[in-house]
Amino acid sequence: MAKKYYITTPIYYPSANFHIGHCYTTIIADSIARYKRLTGYDVYFQTGTDEHGEKIEKKAKEAGITPKEYVDKIIENAKDLWASLGISYDYFIRTTDKNHEEAVQKIFKKLYEQNDIYKGEYKGLYCVPCESFWTESQAVNNICPDCGREVKEVSEEAYFFRLSKYQDKLIKFYDEHPDFILPLSRKNEMLNNFIKPGLEDLCVSRTSFKWGIPVDFDPNHVVYVWIDALSNYITSLGYPNTKSEKFQKYWPADLHLVGKEIVRFHTIIWPCMLMALNLELPKQVFGHGWLKIDGGKISKSLGNYKDPREYIKEYGVDAVRYYALREVPFGNDGNFSEEALISRTNADLANNLGNLVNRTISMSHKYFDGLVTNPKINTEIDEILINKALSLKDIVETKMNELKVNEAIDEIMDTLRFANKYIDETTPWSLAKDETKKNRLATILYNLLETIRICAVLLTPFIPTTSSKIFNELNTKKTDYDSISTFGTLEENIILNKPEILFNRIDK
Ligand code: ME8
Ligand code: MG
Repeated sequence: MAKKYYITTPIYYPSANFHIGHCYTTIIADSIARYKRLTGYDVYFQTGTDEHGEKIEKKAKEAGITPKEYVDKIIENAKDLWASLGISYDYFIRTTDKNHEEAVQKIFKKLYEQNDIYKGEYKGLYCVPCESFWTESQAVNNICPDCGREVKEVSEEAYFFRLSKYQDKLIKFYDEHPDFILPLSRKNEMLNNFIKPGLEDLCVSRTSFKWGIPVDFDPNHVVYVWIDALSNYITSLGYPNTKSEKFQKYWPADLHLVGKEIVRFHTIIWPCMLMALNLELPKQVFGHGWLKIDGGKISKSLGNYKDPREYIKEYGVDAVRYYALREVPFGNDGNFSEEALISRTNADLANNLGNLVNRTISMSHKYFDGLVTNPKINTEIDEILINKALSLKDIVETKMNELKVNEAIDEIMDTLRFANKYIDETTPWSLAKDETKKNRLATILYNLLETIRICAVLLTPFIPTTSSKIFNELNTKKTDYDSISTFGTLEENIILNKPEILFNRIDK
């Protein structure tokens, strides 16, 4: 039976203004999911939308419609954006789904009945746009430390989750699972800034707004955001029915991929909730950095960005995916700019990959009418190329297992660069002038085509549209993972299709 891999993105706040930073999480998650599928895993890749809360309630009111009408309309924007990016999710959860709402009510009730949730009074500082509570020391001068806007003082009757009760268990869990939080710096941040100073019980219900899942035994209250939102990772599997096929198969999650600002929720609140529910904890939470523009926030109010679909229209979906995956060392913050997108596309996709494919296929047509043969007249330089292409599979696997996506891609690009150099050194055009060198020439072209095929298989998770164009040009059926374990799998006696330009050089 295939090994399973359950990977999630956060569930997104519905928005009409997604930017490239939002796409960052889904593109990376999609590439990891596709890579795991390629390598034989039974993958369950989930994304979705986080649709409750005061902010949505307000926006709907401004628009003169109900919150449900508002979110129904606006979530299509997320689905459309993910479709245009080729996001291959297996399940899209909405927190307004009936089964999710019912499951959250049951979770809340269970935690209340076992005294992990109790009723108290909440006094504190609250940031409406971020839907976050802050202590006075966090919200210096009444300013939200996340968004810089003013927080307001609130006081109301509320339910609390006994986070404090799980503090020692959580520290023990971290100790026993050194890879639970990556990168490591984020784990230390959690320990030093939040856990060791002492976990405070967490406010988990609100009475000041209505747009949320009602607490069924106390309907003045709605379940406050994090219990509602975090539960999505299990309600989609059928929880509270832990006997369901999906739950049995996929829980615990293998990877929650999240932006760094919500690592705290996923590595403190979520594990404690799961311990209270007596469920296994996820295997890993990876907190990635932010894409910025001019070193600062990508922001609607600053108007400093375009809809990501405009870049896709202009440069192609794979240029955008490639940029997001390759440009920034995974885990770090990075700066997004259209110029960098263009130079990345030109250097790696047009010059390196595109040029190699185009030159190779064109020469095969010119010298052999596109017929593929492999007379195996190899020399030293051929062996170097062959070994490079053959070792790539394991190198990429190591990098991907460490979630070093940008480095995995760069290894593939490095092999392609070497293949370009191999053309320059073996000079097929001069061999073509000598009838006695025909077999040597055919061998060189075969080695190039086979290297291209191997690289295209390994590039499928990252730039799937381009890989399938390459397979089409190669006219090959050998596109599965096992087919790249040996060099020489590309079928002989096939006729290549005509070359097409994969990436035009962008001049701007
Ligand atoms: O946080 N660079 O949703 P969200 C990189 N609903 N990533 C960015 C980014 C940027 N500039 N801007 C946003 C929420 N993101 C909650 C999650 S999960 C149970 C609930 C990422 O719509 C952000 O880091 O604000 C997060 O991973 C994702 O977009 C969704 O953010
Ligand atoms: Mg956010």
